[in-house]
Amino acid sequence: MIIGVLGAGQMGGGIAQTAAQSGMDVLLADANLELAEKGRSKIDAQLKKQVEKGKLTDGDREKIMGRIKAVNGVQGLASVNLVVEAVSEKPELKFQIFKQLDEVCSKETILASNTSSISITRIAAQTKRPEKVIGMHFMNPVPVMKLVEGIRAIQTSDDTAKKTRDVAEKMGKTYVEVRDIPGFAVNRILMPMINEAVTTLYEGIASVEDIDTAMKLGTNQPMGPLTLADFIGLDTCLAIMEVLHEGLGDSKYRPCPLLKQYVSAGWMGKKSGRGFYKYDV
Ligand SMILES: NC(=O)c1ccc[n+]([C@@H]2O[C@H](COP(=O)([O-])OP(=O)(O)OC[C@H]3O[C@@H](n4cnc5c(N)ncnc54)[C@H](O)[C@@H]3O)[C@@H](O)[C@H]2O)c1
Repeated sequence: MIIGVLGAGQMGGGIAQTAAQSGMDVLLADANLELAEKGRSKIDAQLKKQVEKGKLTDGDREKIMGRIKAVNGVQGLASVNLVVEAVSEKPELKFQIFKQLDEVCSKETILASNTSSISITRIAAQTKRPEKVIGMHFMNPVPVMKLVEGIRAIQTSDDTAKKTRDVAEKMGKTYVEVRDIPGFAVNRILMPMINEAVTTLYEGIASVEDIDTAMKLGTNQPMGPLTLADFIGLDTCLAIMEVLHEGLGDSKYRPCPLLKQYVSAGWMGKKSGRGFYKYDV
């Protein structure tokens, strides 16, 4: 089984690493060979940290890295059985990429997208093999998080869904199948909860720390919703709320004005040094 991963960033790197750790051969591509090599080196650095912690032997690291080959762009992925696309979250870019993948890859290749919010049905419609297009939504960080949401476009065949589930399970993930509706399942449930936590703060019902403590201890969550929002990125949370609001047309998904204001201020969460909490960057 050869997996192609397109987009060697945070998610693509994690997907490539997890596939190689599960014994699969991986071709890792980005916009050019240099970026793909850079993504491959980042995986090596991650694995070296595991070796230092005694969680992996150096021999195993070498074996895993031996299964990952950096290639140049979409054209480097002609020979793979399944592509997981993990390029930046821009609809026009993904549509263009799927048109190219459809031309380059063998007729049998399954084309999966790791998009968090773009319609898989629209992505599938860019190709001449819509029945072989599916969403494969990994969670961040990929090597740690157990879930893959398998998103069936209206065109996706049973055969494609089954083969995709098999690959996810071979990667050690638990696969849940969801329909291609804005937010899929995880974000449809999680983001309104985070948005409501921000509204709770906005209305002065409780402080940042007390909201998080209440949800951690009161509902047995490992971290409070405002901490989680800071980790995800407040811009990402806002973008997903906007997708839910527009896509479902229901005012219950209206993004909280305070969330919008934080994003306008450049307070994006952990990555920018400030969100609901302050961080060293
Ligand atoms: N970060 C998360 O928590 C998360 C979780 C689930 C899904 N996702 C989704 O995964 C995808 C990637 O997100 P990320 O966080 O890894 O972003 P990222 O910015 O870390 O990586 C994106 C990669 O795409 C590459 N790219 C851009 N244009 C390209 C092109 N024309 N051809 C090939 N590669 C190109 C970039 O060079 C970069 O390496 C997005 O669709 C995002 O919505 C992200």
